[in-house]
Amino acid sequence: MRTQVAIVGAGPAGLLLSHLLSLRGVDSVVVENRSRAYVEARIRAGVLEQDTVDLLVASGLGDRLREHGMRHDGIHLQWPGERHRIDFRALTGRSVWIYGQTEVVKDLLGVRGDDVWFEVTDTALHDVDTDRPRLSFVDAEGTPRVVQADVVVGADGFHGVSRPTIPAGRAWEREYPYAWLGILAEVPPSTDELIYAWHPRGFAMHSMRSPRLSRLYLQVAPGERVEDWSDDRIWDELGVRLGLDGWSLGTGPIVDKGVTPMRSFVSTPMRHGRLFLVGDAAHIVPPTGAKGLNLAVADVAVLTEALGAFFAEGRTDLLDGYEDRALRRVWRCTHFSWWMTSMLHTSGDELDQQLQLAQLAYVCSSEAAATSLAENYVGLPHDTGHTA
Ligand code: PHB
Repeated sequence: MRTQVAIVGAGPAGLLLSHLLSLRGVDSVVVENRSRAYVEARIRAGVLEQDTVDLLVASGLGDRLREHGMRHDGIHLQWPGERHRIDFRALTGRSVWIYGQTEVVKDLLGVRGDDVWFEVTDTALHDVDTDRPRLSFVDAEGTPRVVQADVVVGADGFHGVSRPTIPAGRAWEREYPYAWLGILAEVPPSTDELIYAWHPRGFAMHSMRSPRLSRLYLQVAPGERVEDWSDDRIWDELGVRLGLDGWSLGTGPIVDKGVTPMRSFVSTPMRHGRLFLVGDAAHIVPPTGAKGLNLAVADVAVLTEALGAFFAEGRTDLLDGYEDRALRRVWRCTHFSWWMTSMLHTSGDELDQQLQLAQLAYVCSSEAAATSLAENYVGLPHDTGHTA
């Protein structure tokens, strides 16, 4: 097989890249080791930055997003006895949208799904330091395949095969001493906007997916087993940590439960010859800043522009600038996600607790501090290097 861009991974980053390239007349092949049903069902992030939404809408994927997405103009920050709103719209003129990653992937599969090779095995990249890189894999029927491409893109996540193909560069990593227990529940959200709650027993968050589906999280120990958390125990703990006089938490059937580890990770280089990494293949942020998906989309936006210039005009300057441009945003988001995580999760250290409460009070009382949180949360503008 021959294609212009061979893409490893059919998550939101790989699918979006394939879609945006197709709009520019650049053809691609996408391979994915999971099944279509698995990719379509996995529950992940839920907050889209304005620029992410604008990009999806401009690329023709706005129909379901406009119908089901919920615009949020702020979030609530809380600690015992206090709940404060950070007004994104007033502070930055921008908003975020609640629309599950699961839904974004469904929309993308609607346009690209038939061109994805699902359930492949033995995926390997070859000759990526030449101008004739290749991708080999065994398809779902057991037939070995080789794709000859001009460029290969690794969109295969933290555990994928693409990053290890790049000769060792530098990586920065932190595993946080806590995890999130996340649930999806069939109950209308008890809040209009997301609640991020600091509590001496640990962080809790109230998010949502639709007017009938709530998504909630509890800080737990990293090795925590889901089986140890009965539905009653989860609702009780959420009730305590999110509790506020005059407010009550609605409960309902829990339809999904899972524990997510929390990690910060940045790996460089993001490019080796004709191989480019996007999204979680190159960097992971803890979920507290709602940045992971948006950062992957930003990588894809920058790379699409660079590949567009390469295939249309033979220009290599934007490809050469991809890594620096992407990394500037990666480090900004890595800092913001670390900062939100550090402000809201408890470790048992009593000095830390007082510092966190002082920081929360400052963010909720100083317009300058609130604006800093808001502009990072809604997302700094994409810098794709596009000049035309
Ligand atoms: C979610 O709805 O899953 C969600 C929202 C905000 C976050 C993380 C996750 O910071």
